[in-house]
Amino acid sequence: MNTAARPDFTLEAVYESMVALPVFPKIVHKALSVLDDPEKSIADVAKIIKLDHGLVANILKLTNSAMFGLRQQVSDLETALALLGQNRIREVLVASAAMPYLSRDLHGYEMSPQDLCFHSIGCAMISEVVSQRLGFSNSSELFTAAILHDIGKIVLDIYVGPRLFEVLERSRQDDSDFAMAEWEVIGTDHAVAGSSILQQWEFPRDICRAVRSHHDPDLYIQDRLSAMLAFCNIIAIQLGIGVGTDSFRYRLSDQLLYVLGCSEKDYLVCIEDAVRALEDAKDVIGLIFG
Ligand SMILES: [Fe+2]
Ligand SMILES: [Fe+2]
Repeated sequence: MNTAARPDFTLEAVYESMVALPVFPKIVHKALSVLDDPEKSIADVAKIIKLDHGLVANILKLTNSAMFGLRQQVSDLETALALLGQNRIREVLVASAAMPYLSRDLHGYEMSPQDLCFHSIGCAMISEVVSQRLGFSNSSELFTAAILHDIGKIVLDIYVGPRLFEVLERSRQDDSDFAMAEWEVIGTDHAVAGSSILQQWEFPRDICRAVRSHHDPDLYIQDRLSAMLAFCNIIAIQLGIGVGTDSFRYRLSDQLLYVLGCSEKDYLVCIEDAVRALEDAKDVIGLIFG
């Protein structure tokens, strides 16, 4: 009997799948750079966005949802952008462009198209209340990282699915979290895959790093954006927001609370705020999936 191990090409296949992903709309990056250009106006941003009708429709849908909390319903792009303001335009742009990627059936993680969307939107909405509560000033960057933090699952799904039992068994035996077990069985995890996708999509380095770190305590304690993302994700998981089969294998560490300067009392208040955000996230999902 030949006992030599068969070569495993899973990792190569994962990276090929990443390269094959459709690119993040270039129009969004263009609009974001115009948004940051002091010489340009909101009207210039609108001109660019209008080139993509699907994006405009998604922006109006989200602008009119509880996610962005405008006091009035808007039906045209210019009014929406004027009412949103610079930071919120950035957020609505990224969220609108990300929706088609996030609305997928993920059989490997036992998640429906609504689940990943709900989890991502819920995490982003939690990030806003937690940013306020813990005094985090870079809330717009955190929002983007929260929307996209589990994007790696859309690639890893087909590799996790056939080996799900093995991943769960490994996680149970080692008492490790799901991402660590993914790493051991597949050779990478959805956080690393997600970060690679975001690099490929030309997202800023800080956001890629936070996504890379969101399940790795050694990494997420090293910068505040990463720690905040890990914290918001854990809250979303604890509240059961769009979670899959991996959810019960993640837990909150004392170290994370320590680096965030978050007391037990602050944490409980964040949970209360997050529960309210959860109601709004449900409304958004209702609007998207009709
Ligand atoms: Fe994750
Ligand atoms: Fe997550």
